[in-house]
Amino acid sequence: MLNGKHITIGIESSCDETAAGVVADGREMLSNIISSQISIHTKFGGVVPEIASRHHLENINDVIDRALKEAGVSLNEVDLIGVTYGPGLVGALLIGVATAKMIAYAKNIPLVGVNHMHGHIAANYIEHKDLKPPFMGLIVSGGHTNIVDIEDYNTCKIIGETRDDAAGEAFDKVSRVIGLGYPGGPKMDRSARDGNKNAIDFKRVWLEKGSYDFSFSGIKTAALNYINNERQSGRDIDINDFSASFQEAVVDVITKKAVDACIEFKRDKLVLSGGVAANTRLGELLIERASKAGIQVFKPSKILCTDNGAMIASSAYYESLKGNYSNLKLDAAPGLEI
Ligand code: KG4
Ligand code: ZN
Repeated sequence: MLNGKHITIGIESSCDETAAGVVADGREMLSNIISSQISIHTKFGGVVPEIASRHHLENINDVIDRALKEAGVSLNEVDLIGVTYGPGLVGALLIGVATAKMIAYAKNIPLVGVNHMHGHIAANYIEHKDLKPPFMGLIVSGGHTNIVDIEDYNTCKIIGETRDDAAGEAFDKVSRVIGLGYPGGPKMDRSARDGNKNAIDFKRVWLEKGSYDFSFSGIKTAALNYINNERQSGRDIDINDFSASFQEAVVDVITKKAVDACIEFKRDKLVLSGGVAANTRLGELLIERASKAGIQVFKPSKILCTDNGAMIASSAYYESLKGNYSNLKLDAAPGLEI
């Protein structure tokens, strides 16, 4: 406890960010330290799992120390440790889980294993102090594209999910081939701002009528074929037009399905989260379509969209309120479902 407030530290190491954040009473962010490995993985065009694990190991203690220092708390004042235990890369997850268990044991602090996807949703509890379930959630990241009905804190029902690539994954793959590099999402977002979204008509994949599932491998293949055809024909590709058109095809489908899900399931709040939630056009089109249907859109600031420790702390806090603690047998669960 610090000044009468419950203190949680959240630890995140599921992919390419080593992160720790301190949160008071589940909502107030006292610190959020993120050590990104993006520059290391850029030269390989994507995340290399072994390299990610090694860097987590090298950085995690320092990241935790900095998070505590910036928050002005000592480990003796920490009431709860939250750690991502899945989904993610197994070797990367293990570094966070082992570190969290070690601190929990040494300092006798309660531990909660956090589902990374619930963490992304919880980023919104930090950003929007009055936001409470129920609401419709839209999680769009490098590994997931899900529409989920959030009935309570950390409790949700999947309404729709991708049947192949995640949206962020599609951005990353297409970006690599067009030459913008890794990570593709932010690079294509930036390039799209100077492009014409109607320049290339990429076919949208809607799947069966009434389905809230997604498929992005078709749009991805169409984009890759377009690049190959143009290159083989010796024509120059306008990268900005290409990025804007590809991005529009992806966000058109996501926003339409998310708003339709809110209407069908009678939710008047739509909560966006995950790395791709930082996409400018996604936010813009979602607000435009949702407001026409009387639905309020919530999204976290950019730093809380991508992987971070504060969101894990918030999710752990709400899990602890339900009495759902983990013990020292907590293990990494790379394929953990929402
Ligand atoms: O949530 P996150 O940090 O990690 C996962 O849990 O996957 O999301 C990373 C993903 C990457 O695919 C990245 O390209 C994408 O989020 N991303 C974006 C943007 N910023 C990050 N995609 C589109 N537009 C952006 N501005
Ligand atoms: Zn994530």
